[in-house]
Amino acid sequence: MDISILTLFPDMLAGSFNQSIIRRAQERGLVSIRLHNIRDYTHDKHHTTDDTPFGGGQGMVMKPEPLFEAVEAALGDLGSTGNDATPVILLTPQGRPFTQAIAQELSQHPALVLISGHYEGIDARADALATDNLSIGDYVLTGGEIPAMAIVDAVVRLLPGVLGDSMSAVDDSFATGLLEGPTYTRPAEYRGESVPKVLLSGDHGAVARWRRQQSLKRTYERRPDLLKTANLTEEDHAYLQKLKAREEE
Ligand code: ADE
Repeated sequence: MDISILTLFPDMLAGSFNQSIIRRAQERGLVSIRLHNIRDYTHDKHHTTDDTPFGGGQGMVMKPEPLFEAVEAALGDLGSTGNDATPVILLTPQGRPFTQAIAQELSQHPALVLISGHYEGIDARADALATDNLSIGDYVLTGGEIPAMAIVDAVVRLLPGVLGDSMSAVDDSFATGLLEGPTYTRPAEYRGESVPKVLLSGDHGAVARWRRQQSLKRTYERRPDLLKTANLTEEDHAYLQKLKAREEE
């Protein structure tokens, strides 16, 4: 996958992609991440990327010309990887809420372009550049750099071969529509707390059942809203009924 990110602060992103799993994914050629500095697409002496809003008001607005040229250059650089269906995503608190399902969808594309806005916003004419607007949550950050990092991280870990064990993304919280339950490692006892016995039993069926129940329990306790859309079996419903009954006792 080819990912191009347009930003005024490429250094903010460069460090984060040079670590851990995302770094390894690049070294192994599974993803190529290009950072385009929007300032490089200005033509005036002062490399102006923002200006005051027409009609007056607070703050500065990102000018349209460098954004248009940067997106055109990013799409041009993609060469054969890019096509008309390449998502061009503007990061903004006004976008659609980013979810695991959107990460899955984006991971199917050979190329992505992300635009990290800054200041009070971007000139509205630059909206035409984006095929989608995404938000990483209902709060306002100083810019779209952290959202771009979050989206790249969530998407890249889903690419085939990126996670060591090809199954490790399958059980993720949200991938199943449920939260993942608790996990444990050695020592089997620590400060008086023991690991649940079933995990030491070697009974794979019992472990799988226990994990499913823990996942349901955690989701019921922390994110009951997810249960409305999760894929649940008869056995899952029966277990949830039992949890509810226990609560009412
Ligand atoms: N830019 C500023 N805040 C943001 C958010 N919550 N999501 C995406 N882009 C943003």
